Amino acid sequence: MSRRVRLGVNIDHVATVRNARGGAHPDPARAAEQALAAGADGITAHLREDRRHITDADIEVLSALCRRANRPLNLEMAVTDEMLAIALRHKPHAACLVPERREEVTTEGGLAVAGHAARIKPVVQALSDAGVRVSLFIEPSPEQVEAAVAVGAHVVEFHTGRYCLLSGQERAAEFDRLKAAAAQAHALGLEVHAGHGLDYATAGAILDIPEIMELNIGHFLIGEAVFVGLDAAIRRMRAAMDAALAEQGA
Ligand code: PXP
Repeated sequence: MSRRVRLGVNIDHVATVRNARGGAHPDPARAAEQALAAGADGITAHLREDRRHITDADIEVLSALCRRANRPLNLEMAVTDEMLAIALRHKPHAACLVPERREEVTTEGGLAVAGHAARIKPVVQALSDAGVRVSLFIEPSPEQVEAAVAVGAHVVEFHTGRYCLLSGQERAAEFDRLKAAAAQAHALGLEVHAGHGLDYATAGAILDIPEIMELNIGHFLIGEAVFVGLDAAIRRMRAAMDAALAEQGA
């Protein structure tokens, strides 16, 4: 039997479109409800320091919505006192610690955990003590995996952005890096997730890495929703993931 991999749908870019006009439409909470109805296993949202997409009020609504639906909310957050206080107030199912630079268009690289344990470890501890499952969004490198274990994380999410942007030999090399890091993380007791830049094809391909338990996907799905609707885009992503998994199980 093939394994099951969870699909977390990141709804940030519904808020990006809403914010372009400053009103209430399109509503990310409505997108979250539709995503769950279409088969998303959970909702992911990134409360950025500059609030460029999801806002504090959105997190309030999304927390309540996920609690009602009994589905996990995965809050992506920078390692700051402000974000820690917000996360501790809402106690989402999971928090994914990400690097954040105001001038970046998206989360450009993984969190530098190695060398920054003193700053990251207390945040991981505080979230864990509050019952929040802590994930670290990292590059697939041995040093970062070891550092993730050292600071007490439960999960690592590998940044697949580079893999998705590359092609040919370079993509194959990045795949090997992801595969080795996933095996290392799993052997050290961490749960393995992946995300960033994934589309139907790359989501399927990345599932060849057997330790991956969850994918978090946003931009592509919200973009596809413009053409086929959110429900259809998520169902097609689920089908692409299931087809890739069935192929391995066969
Ligand atoms: N996982 C993490 C930790 C992210 O920061 C993002 C982007 O917000 C994603 C997954 C989703 O990436 P994309 O929007 O490119 O699918």
